[in-house]
Amino acid sequence: MPKESNEANQSNEANPANPASATCAGKHPAPPCTLVIFGAGGDLTKRLLMPSLYNLSADKLLDDGMEIIGVNHGERETSDWRDELTQSLRGFAADKAATFHTSQLNEEAWNWVVGRLEYFPGEFEEDETFARLKARLAKAKSGNIMFYLAVGARFFQPIIEHLGAAGLLEEKDGNFRRLVIEKPFGTDLASAKALNACILKFADESQVYRIDHFLGKDTVQSILAVRFANAMFEPIWRREYIDNVQITAAETIGVEGRGKFYEQTGAFRDMLPNHLFQLLGMVAMEPPNSFDAESVRDRKAEVFDAIRPLTANDVVLGQYEAGPAGPGYKEEPGVAKDSRTETYAAARVYVENWRWAGVPFYLRTGKRLTERRTEISVQLKAVPFLLFRDTPVDALTPNVFTLRIDPAHGTTFDFNVKVPGPVMQIGKVRSAFNYADFFAERANVGYETLLYDCMLGDATLFQRADSIETAWAAVDRVLHPDSPLAVHGYAAGSAGPEQSDKLLAQDGRTWRALTDTRKKD
Ligand code: BG6
Repeated sequence: MPKESNEANQSNEANPANPASATCAGKHPAPPCTLVIFGAGGDLTKRLLMPSLYNLSADKLLDDGMEIIGVNHGERETSDWRDELTQSLRGFAADKAATFHTSQLNEEAWNWVVGRLEYFPGEFEEDETFARLKARLAKAKSGNIMFYLAVGARFFQPIIEHLGAAGLLEEKDGNFRRLVIEKPFGTDLASAKALNACILKFADESQVYRIDHFLGKDTVQSILAVRFANAMFEPIWRREYIDNVQITAAETIGVEGRGKFYEQTGAFRDMLPNHLFQLLGMVAMEPPNSFDAESVRDRKAEVFDAIRPLTANDVVLGQYEAGPAGPGYKEEPGVAKDSRTETYAAARVYVENWRWAGVPFYLRTGKRLTERRTEISVQLKAVPFLLFRDTPVDALTPNVFTLRIDPAHGTTFDFNVKVPGPVMQIGKVRSAFNYADFFAERANVGYETLLYDCMLGDATLFQRADSIETAWAAVDRVLHPDSPLAVHGYAAGSAGPEQSDKLLAQDGRTWRALTDTRKKD
C-alpha cells in the first residue's frame, strides 16, 4: 500500500537506467523468515512465486537469513528443483508475451534465491511429513515462518490441520507464524465458513493472509490513491453525480487446459465474489482513517455488508460456442459434452448505503471475449440539455472516467468539447493517462508486494474472514437458486451473450463497448 507517498512520488519518476528504483525506493528489507511453500512443483510456484522472489531479491528487499523450503510429494534432489525453476524463470523472461518478460536477468539476484531453495519431499496429508518438517524448522535460521499453501483447495484443510496438530502455527518467543492461502476460499457461503472455521481453530486471524491476486496489481492499489490523493474525484464520487459503475474483466483466453477445474467452478465463482468484488470494494469504500490494515479492511467490509443480496434477476450467465475465436467451451479438454458451466457472468449489484443508494454497479467477466480488458468505468450523470436545444446538437454523451487495470495501465476520461468550426457541434473526446508515459514499468508479476507485505506483517491487501463470508453471502442465493439459471450461448470472440445487454437495457443503460473504435486513446 502507498504508505510512503512522498518518497514514492519523487523516486517513481521514470528512470529507465534504474527501473528498480520505481519499487524499492524508501523500502527496507523484510525481516528474516523461512518460507515454506506447499506445492513446490506447482504452477503457482513456478509462474508467480519464483519471479516475485527474484524481483524482491533484485530490489534487495529480502533478508540474507531467508530460507525457502519447497514441500511436494515425490522424491527429488534439491539441485533438480533448482534447475527446473531456473529453466522456467529463464523461459518466462525470454517470452515476450509473459508478464515477467525481461531482456536481461539479474543473475546475482536469481542466484541469491536459488542458493536458498531446498526441496523437501512429503505427502500433504501424512503426519510423518509434518513431524519431519517440524524437526527441520527447529533448525531454521529464523524462527519466523511463513507457510504458503500453493496447492489445490482440497489440500487446504488437511495441511492446516496437520500444521496445527504439529504445533507449527504457534507463535512463540516473538517469532511469527503466518499462513498464506489463495482463492478459492470455499465455493459458497457454507464452505467458506467451514474453511474459515478450520483455519481459525489453529491460527489467529492476525496470522492469516488470504490472497486475492487482483490486490497485488499496482493499478488496483492505485484506486485509493486516485480517489483520495486528488481533490477532483471525491466530491463527485457519490450517487448525486454518478449514474452507474461498470466493472469488467474480459479475457480472450479460454480455460487454458483447466477444463476439469473450471467445470466445477464456472466464471461466476471464479471471478465475481472475489476479484470483481475487490474492485467494487476499492471503488465504493468510504475513506479509511489511515492505510492501516484494519482501517482499510473495515471500510471495505462495510461495502460488502451493504450489498443487496443478488437474485436470479440480477445475473446473466453465458457459455462460449464456436465463433471467430475458435471452438466452443464444450470442445475443450476435460469439459463435459453437455456442460452447463458458465464461462461468462454479468451481475447488477446495489450497494445499499448512503453514498451509493440507487447507483447500480454492473459487473461482467468472461472467457473468449473479443478483447482482454480489466477496467472500472465510472459513468457520470447527464447534464441538463437545455443550453443546446436550439443548436444542431442532438444529445450530450455522459462523462466516463475509466480506471484501466489490465492490460492497459492508466485512466481515461471521456468528455465533450466543441468541434472546431462556425457552428456549435459537440465532439466526444478522450484524455488518457498511461503509466508507462510517467513511470518505469518493469517485469512484475503482481505477487511481489503481497509477499513482501506478508513478511512485514502488513495485512492491508489481504482478505479477512468476515469479508470473505459477507461476499459469499451476497451471492449465495444465486449459487443455490430454486431452479437452475439459464446459461446463454455466445460466440467465442464476441462481447458475450445478448441477454447481458438486456440486463442493462432493462435499466435504460448500455455496456461500455469492449472494443475501442476510437483513433486516439
Ligand atoms: C484467476 C482465475 O483467479 O484470475 C482465472 O482463476 C482468471 O480464471 C485470472 O483468468 C485472471 O487474472 P488476471 O490477473 O490475468 O486478470
